[in-house]
Amino acid sequence: MTSPLEAVLLGAGQRGTDACGAFARRHPEQLRFVAVAEPDEERRRRFARQHGIDPAMCFAAYEDLLARPQLAPLCFNTTMDAHHLPSTLMALEAGYDIFLEKPMAVTARDCLRIAQVARARGRIVQICHPLRYTPFYTKARDLLTSGAIGRVISMTMVENVGYWHFAHSYVRGNWGVAATTGPLILTKCCHDMDLAVWLAGDDPVRVASFGALNEFRPDRAPEGAPNRCTDGCPVEKTCPYFAPAMYMGDNTDWPVSVISSDPSAEARWQALLTGPYGRCVYRCDNTAVDHQTVIAEFANGVSLGFSVHANAFHPCRTLRVTGSEGELNGHLEKAEISVVRFTPGQGLEANPRVFSTAGQADAHHGGDTGAISNFLRCVREDDKQGAAESLDIAVAGHLLAFAAEQARVTQTLVDMKSYRLALAG
Ligand SMILES: NC(=O)c1ccc[n+]([C@@H]2O[C@H](COP(=O)([O-])OP(=O)(O)OC[C@H]3O[C@@H](n4cnc5c(N)ncnc54)[C@H](O)[C@@H]3O)[C@@H](O)[C@H]2O)c1
Repeated sequence: MTSPLEAVLLGAGQRGTDACGAFARRHPEQLRFVAVAEPDEERRRRFARQHGIDPAMCFAAYEDLLARPQLAPLCFNTTMDAHHLPSTLMALEAGYDIFLEKPMAVTARDCLRIAQVARARGRIVQICHPLRYTPFYTKARDLLTSGAIGRVISMTMVENVGYWHFAHSYVRGNWGVAATTGPLILTKCCHDMDLAVWLAGDDPVRVASFGALNEFRPDRAPEGAPNRCTDGCPVEKTCPYFAPAMYMGDNTDWPVSVISSDPSAEARWQALLTGPYGRCVYRCDNTAVDHQTVIAEFANGVSLGFSVHANAFHPCRTLRVTGSEGELNGHLEKAEISVVRFTPGQGLEANPRVFSTAGQADAHHGGDTGAISNFLRCVREDDKQGAAESLDIAVAGHLLAFAAEQARVTQTLVDMKSYRLALAG
């Protein structure tokens, strides 16, 4: 019987509480939080209560917690994107191994800096890319690396965010303003860029990208729509983004839990009257694009076509990989992968092999559990090599995202070698 690894938490928001905190509550034999840093008193108290943390180990900011001598071997960093660089550098300095929420940081240089300091200090830093640890993508990669479709030739990946999710997170919410958190291709799609590098099995060499904000902007607002849905909107009966319809129903879990710590109807209504989630989606300060495509080529010749769509009904990710001997098709939400092989004369095999990849019932199709378990395993087994290789892929995925954004904004093809050289200069 192993004793739980002890950890501190930076940022007891949605991810800190619902992903990392929830894991520790489900697996007390594996992980125990002994300290928390969170400026929001209600969130800090809630986390301390849920994990039995001594009041003396509760801090109002990560700066205060990390100024103390190391309080545990592990640090879970679930602060918001712009805090990732300073808090992670401080935590590395203090000696922690770190589980860091994606995106690693909000600039390409800052991502490289975190990886460089982790390497120099011999510390484990795992980026929370849960999809890599889902049964779906694990199976897809196993099939590709075992040659199930021969040599991989091309990959087509699609992410359908879903109209309501996009409005919640990327218009009204935390990730609407690219200048403060980063572009959509980073904040939403760094997972996909990470998967692309991981599945292709090599570094990207060239990338181009197109996309724009076409829908959620003032000139698309219905006539007479006020700044807030609660101000009497003429299209409240038909607008799919009418805030009271999204947030005043029976569901009080995510995404509704984000608008107010207090789930009561009064508190939620107050949040809509005064907070960001009551704003008309056509009259926010958002700049995140609502559709984008990325095309890229990898050093081993594999090509990638990726697209992300805000205006989709079914939130889902799909994957299609063609190979020299067959093709693989997968649908994450249906938890299904099929593999067909080419046969002489007949084209495709009559009976494709179909794999069910149903995951655990946590967020991200079992990926949160898998990602945290992998981090704990790396620490327990002192698998610094495995952790460093995993971090290199995460860095390459983040750089692909930043380079794609540069390609989109400058309308150019970005050569990754020159891009990396410019970052180093
Ligand atoms: N891996 C994934 O799939 C995934 C999914 C969603 C979000 N995320 C990432 O997780 C991170 C957190 O997102 P979230 O939705 O939980 O946001 P959140 O706003 O709910 O949580 C962030 C918390 O950090 C706290 N904070 C602010 N300043 C702080 C300080 N100085 N010290 C300590 N805490 C401080 C905030 O008060 C807040 O409670 C983000 O980087 C986000 O991009 C990752």
